[in-house]
Amino acid sequence: MPRRVVLALVADIHCRAEIIEDLREGLMPVNDEADILVMCGDLCNMGRVEEAKALADVLRGVRIPMVAVLGNHDYHSGYVNEVVAILEGVGVHLLQGTGHTINIDGTTVGFAGAKGFCGGYGTYCLTPFGEQGIKCFINETHDDANNLDACLQTLDTDYRVVLLHYAPIKETLFGEPPELYPFLGSSILAEPVDKHGCDLVVHGHAHNGVEEGETAGGILVKNVAMPVIKRSYVLHELDASARARKGRQ
Ligand SMILES: [Fe+2]
Ligand SMILES: [Fe+2]
Repeated sequence: MPRRVVLALVADIHCRAEIIEDLREGLMPVNDEADILVMCGDLCNMGRVEEAKALADVLRGVRIPMVAVLGNHDYHSGYVNEVVAILEGVGVHLLQGTGHTINIDGTTVGFAGAKGFCGGYGTYCLTPFGEQGIKCFINETHDDANNLDACLQTLDTDYRVVLLHYAPIKETLFGEPPELYPFLGSSILAEPVDKHGCDLVVHGHAHNGVEEGETAGGILVKNVAMPVIKRSYVLHELDASARARKGRQ
């Protein structure tokens, strides 16, 4: 039986000079409390090199494995390659439509991650119809959903976790203006999750949303945007024995 694995989850750190010391203090217990630190995008506030360097300096103190996806803010200033290199330099494994496996004492945790994109939900999802601009827009979302599909197909691990920045369900958006929902994510991103199954989906981006929801297929989705969780991270336990008990119910 795989061991229990504790994840520390956070998104939307929006790193900038004025929060560095609070962030450093807030992340301090993570080495003792969790096995893996998971960060779901908007790591930097405006995607600036100095913000990435400041975050990297804080993350140098993290001794557990770190895995992350980027958010829209990380792209804003046009330095995404530099941001990625700086964070990878301190050991963050950045998922960009890719998978990664972390081994904790012989128990494997597979991560499939992508930023994701917009498009809306269910019946009202945007479709690639009409003008080229619309097709380009929604194909960004389909590209990341296809990447997740390919990753999940090959991840053969004890636990599987999907990381996104944009929201794959609308239930974690409650509290956001409904007019904004199509720009906060898309149910297209939930399709590979329900097709292949996983233990947990984590996202951010919806600062005014709520912390928990589930996909149509019943998979737990957590919105861990910092303004939602109101602390530096929340803990989530992957527990195969609890999963087996649930399966027998
Ligand atoms: Fe954000
Ligand atoms: Fe965002």
